[in-house]
Amino acid sequence: MMLLGRLKSQLVASTSPWRLLARNYKVTVVGAGGGIGQPLSLLIRQNAGIRELALHDINEMKGIATDLSHISKPGRVTTFVGESQLEAAVSGANVVVVAAGMPRLPGMERDQLMAANGGVAAKVASAVSVACPGTLLAFITNPINMIVPTAAEVLKANGVFNPRRLFGITTLDVVRAKKFIGTAMGKDPGNVDITVIGGHAGITILPLLSTCKPPYLGEAKEIEKLIHRIQEAGTEVVKAKAGNGSATLSMAYAGAQFVDSLLRAIGGQEGVVECAFVASELTEAPFFASSLELGRYGIKRYLEIPQMNELEMEALAKLLPILRKNAEEGIDFARKYL
Ligand code: LMR
Repeated sequence: MMLLGRLKSQLVASTSPWRLLARNYKVTVVGAGGGIGQPLSLLIRQNAGIRELALHDINEMKGIATDLSHISKPGRVTTFVGESQLEAAVSGANVVVVAAGMPRLPGMERDQLMAANGGVAAKVASAVSVACPGTLLAFITNPINMIVPTAAEVLKANGVFNPRRLFGITTLDVVRAKKFIGTAMGKDPGNVDITVIGGHAGITILPLLSTCKPPYLGEAKEIEKLIHRIQEAGTEVVKAKAGNGSATLSMAYAGAQFVDSLLRAIGGQEGVVECAFVASELTEAPFFASSLELGRYGIKRYLEIPQMNELEMEALAKLLPILRKNAEEGIDFARKYL
């Protein structure tokens, strides 16, 4: 009897619409031929639930697509080239992840990339507005603190903005925090649980070390050093690459983790939580990174900001005006573009 019951529930699970959907995703990578785009596409390709992995870039990607298509996973790899094929690339996508744009050079701040990369946000948001307004749209392209407000403004102007479906990927800040804190504690970084709030540039990146699990018990000076390293980790890579760009491999790792979380949540998995930079009412900044529970339709729940210590509250007070200014700049960019 019990066996029959189990068989029946397995049958229901394997034929439920969620299960069918879980094997039927289209994911589009914009900027798929670039330094982040290639490893990101490779890692996303490993997800067995993908029906179509659509690669978009400004240059031809036949070679990359053929290469990826030989991996023994179900589904197909398609390519789309240039602005004229952007709408076709995103059409029908469950998730669109954007890695296109210029990287930083040594000595540059992320903000300085807005002139080069703002147009990417505007063009992708325009294409999504027309061809796939219901998709989950996630940006890696910098400066995240401005790019997400730009995309939001374009989606708003087109009457399709849904704050629960637009993301700036800040997963790499969490990945780095886990690694650096885990190493400092002599623990497996995978077992470190840490929330990173704020934005994705310098002091706007705020890892909440006081909430870390297991607790980090270092001296104040060590805590300060760790926070600074997490905030400047992107610059550490830019310097090490000495003119050859910024983080690509660790960013692809983080981006693929975020896409995987989105897909698991779309598929009906409960309790999927990621930090991301989104339109938010948690603070006075209109866009803010915090912990989010993901669901079938994007953000299911904005988790409360955890209880912070005095140092963290001071750091939050300092970063909020920066995020507000960044949001205004991103919105201005969009208004000029539209
Ligand atoms: C990073 O954090 O590595 C990226 O935002 C790239 C950069 O410019 O630092």
